[in-house]
Amino acid sequence: MAKVTTRELRVGKGTGRPLVMVTAYDAPTARIADEAGVDLILVGDSVAMVVLGYDDTLQVSVADMAHHTAAVARARPEPMIIADLPWMSYHTTVPETLRNAALLIRAGAQAVKLEGGRKRSEMVDALTGAEIPVIGHLGLTPQSVNVMGGFRVQGLQLASALAIIDDARALADAGCVAIVLEGMPDEVARRVTEAVPVPTIGIGAGPYCDGQVLVFHDVVGLGDRTPAKFVRRFGDLRTDAIAGISSWAAEVRAGTFPAEAETYHLADEVAKALAGEV
Ligand code: KIV
Repeated sequence: MAKVTTRELRVGKGTGRPLVMVTAYDAPTARIADEAGVDLILVGDSVAMVVLGYDDTLQVSVADMAHHTAAVARARPEPMIIADLPWMSYHTTVPETLRNAALLIRAGAQAVKLEGGRKRSEMVDALTGAEIPVIGHLGLTPQSVNVMGGFRVQGLQLASALAIIDDARALADAGCVAIVLEGMPDEVARRVTEAVPVPTIGIGAGPYCDGQVLVFHDVVGLGDRTPAKFVRRFGDLRTDAIAGISSWAAEVRAGTFPAEAETYHLADEVAKALAGEV
């Protein structure tokens, strides 16, 4: 399957081939995503909650994101790598935003993602001007958890639905190459998808998007939180992992691990010489 670049993102809208994006936070998950044939890998700031044990995504820094992006990039996956700009890395000045995005690009990302609509236009324009492709993120934007009063579906009222559509137009005008739509009614996502010339990638936004994204650990059943309504599990790795670790622990306790095949030995003469020394 041909690699999806930012060019394909731009011209690929409406081709009828939905884009598939999944998160990855380290080399093994990036390799799995690659071998599974996804189009796009997102080093999401969800790493904060999914892997690092925080209650929200506000706790990760640019250094954290660069660390995980570099781990994903070292797997040399075929899919394009997108890294999340974390909270407060693109909220102050244009130069600071550019410097932070450059750290993620130098860590191995080919594009960055940021949250928010029209109010981010200046930053999107500046990043695009610095040759950094930008993906927008609208609706339930987790970095706004304190303003939203929790992780809540957005765009449920006419005014807020229209605001999301307006924000999407502003992001596309500012240069975003794609827009993630999270946690919104499918009718709103559909209107956004019709309103913008760039692909929309949905998560909890229904089927009328140009693509779908999910968190790796949710798809394979490795997460330890109650999954959101929009998650469908396609595996149960957590159960498999618990079974595997408890079987190994039982064998250690029974003295049957390690076995002969799992053990290194000295050559006979070295073993004899060693026995003579002690
Ligand atoms: O950080 C993340 O995983 C995301 C996805 C939910 C789109 O932003």
